[in-house]
Amino acid sequence: EKGGYDYFMLKEIAEQPKAVADTLLGRIDAAGSLTLDEIRIPVSVLREADKVVIVACGTAFHAGLIAKYAIEHWTRVPCEVELASEFRYRDPILGQRTLVIAISQSGETMDTLMALRHAREQGAKVLAICNTNGSTIPRESDAVLYTHAGPEVAVASTKAFLTQLVACYLVALYLGQVRGTKWGDEILAVIRDLARISHQVEKVLDTMEPVRELARSLADKDTVLFLGRHVGHPVALEGALKLKELAYMHAEGFAAGELKHGPIALIENDLPVVVVVPSPRGRSVLHDKIVSNIQEIRARGARTIVIAEEGDETVVPYADHLIRIPATPTLLQPLVATVPLQVFACELATARGNEVDQPRNLAKSVTVE
Ligand code: F6R
Repeated sequence: EKGGYDYFMLKEIAEQPKAVADTLLGRIDAAGSLTLDEIRIPVSVLREADKVVIVACGTAFHAGLIAKYAIEHWTRVPCEVELASEFRYRDPILGQRTLVIAISQSGETMDTLMALRHAREQGAKVLAICNTNGSTIPRESDAVLYTHAGPEVAVASTKAFLTQLVACYLVALYLGQVRGTKWGDEILAVIRDLARISHQVEKVLDTMEPVRELARSLADKDTVLFLGRHVGHPVALEGALKLKELAYMHAEGFAAGELKHGPIALIENDLPVVVVVPSPRGRSVLHDKIVSNIQEIRARGARTIVIAEEGDETVVPYADHLIRIPATPTLLQPLVATVPLQVFACELATARGNEVDQPRNLAKSVTVE
């Protein structure tokens, strides 16, 4: 049932191009409009919403952090993202014009369920993004957009994460479509790029051997740091989470702009630091800033592992290891940039003799608060 792979995680990483394509299937029409009739929340509610609040845990929370960038950029509706386990305890401000999005692979995570119950009690409408048909979270929500990743068996989430991102982009674009915000060439171009993205994920998967080799060479390290900016920041957080849960290593993700406010003190000789570099096109200011960050940490001895777009030559002199990803629009980059980090964590876990599919102390679905 592992389809020839040693672990479910490897199989699920390999299934990502299909999972992404399946999650898009039937949801974009030939003219490039979104057909999300499944979102049974009345269009009037989506039009009048004055705030979006995303609740989720773990990897799903990281998908939510990325969704915030897309939702605010494409719809200009303010969006908050909150850990489901913290949400109801701070008496959040919710009302009938709040659209709450609960993201969960299993649909059974108790923290997320309690957060959405709280939101509905306050009159908010809840849209679930979920991978498990008929599970509790979609049953208790006003509407659901299913991700079509297929069953995810490995405890560490991979393909579910990529499809959560796709679903978040679809919701953001749909909100833009029904609200008529910024609905123009940019959005149509993004939809075209989304339709192509599963091939790009496949391209990344085809070039992972050097990443595996690199991971094996780091098996006796204690710490790995991850840096990113913009949507690369949640990608860094996700890379660090994968490494903690699979390799049992100390791993932390930072927003690269925060380095100088403290974390740079951690940099020491030969410390591996993974840096997710934004596209040099688009938000080029951020790109240049992160290239300076790479120079700074390298000058202090860090071993730099740089994830950068094909054709981005500016990073070459400062990268001890360079991992190439295809060019994508800035907001979609997490779909390709996360994949090497999954492979990296999986290979490190194997090299350290850990149980890849069943990491210690973890369960696939967390049904206690
Ligand atoms: C990490 C991981 C967990 C889950 C989290 C939420 O690899 O799998 O962090 O993402 O427990 O689970 P769901 O999405 O089922 O609500």
